[in-house]
Amino acid sequence: MKSHLLDLADLSRDEVVHLVQLARRLQDHPEPHALAGKILGLVFFNPSLRTLASTQAGMAKLGGSSFVITPGQGTWQLESRLGVTMNGACAEHIREGLPVLASFCDILGIRSFAAGIDLTADVADSDYKAMASVIPSPLVNLESAIAHPMQGLADWKTLDDLNVPQGSRFVLSWVNHPRALPLAVPATAVHMAALRGHEVVVLRPDGYALPAAVMEKARYAAQLSGGSVTETSDRNMALAGASIVYAKEWGSPEHYGDSATETALRAGLSDWQVREDWFTSARSDCRFMHCLPVRRNVAVADEILDGSRSVVLQEANNRLWTQMAVLHHLLKP
Ligand code: CP
Repeated sequence: MKSHLLDLADLSRDEVVHLVQLARRLQDHPEPHALAGKILGLVFFNPSLRTLASTQAGMAKLGGSSFVITPGQGTWQLESRLGVTMNGACAEHIREGLPVLASFCDILGIRSFAAGIDLTADVADSDYKAMASVIPSPLVNLESAIAHPMQGLADWKTLDDLNVPQGSRFVLSWVNHPRALPLAVPATAVHMAALRGHEVVVLRPDGYALPAAVMEKARYAAQLSGGSVTETSDRNMALAGASIVYAKEWGSPEHYGDSATETALRAGLSDWQVREDWFTSARSDCRFMHCLPVRRNVAVADEILDGSRSVVLQEANNRLWTQMAVLHHLLKP
């Protein structure tokens, strides 16, 4: 594995399996001194609950320590645009700020969401890659415009924990939300399930097809693992025989950055809320996944989140173990 972990797609299937096995080993056999003296720097340009807490907790459980920077909240606001005259709110540029932070720690983790204006740039993760290029030490992506590798690893481990077999049907379903959300989680989830060898079905309304580059990458991963990737807007067809329903909200790639058109489109999609009646033709033991946070009774009904299908808490808990595995792998001499 390279020193930067930017995308789950940068890892081979064997590397993912190794990290998930390491996560399980650290869960069963604690190594409280493995990273003694090591420091994790965390930079959050966007809010978080799970990622913020689990990275710090994971580092502490391995004997290391961490610091958190939330640019503009108690620290200087950081500019990321190139060639800009910095006479506005930002007092410092990432080209100085991030290398300085990197010099204080052994590994950096950065969360920086999509700008949500230029789909091509966001799918290419241009801004995040520009940021990564100024960081000499290891970097882990804590969610960028198009990738959330830490979520993908935790999701893979959750499927292993549940003994969900390769070849079973994994439905990634679009669900509603009051505003357009980034593509990082659905792009990572479709790739993760394809690389794990599932029969992946992307269920989404018209206008919400994932970008072609995301689907192509996932189809290539599926080819290597004996899986498949298809998409449909037909819910009954998608859910027939499903073992997993993985719900996620995302903005329309077709109307990217056009919030007025998208808001009007989403207004007619309120039935894209996961309820028990979605599961009629699914396997009786079909489980429900979501990366969280989730808006109850908008994206997912209470009956699902509070019912026996839901594994969302287990899925969130796995963030801790899989991130510990990544830190251990990158930092342990
Ligand atoms: N799933 C996830 O990344 O959660 P947070 O946004 O709370 O970190």
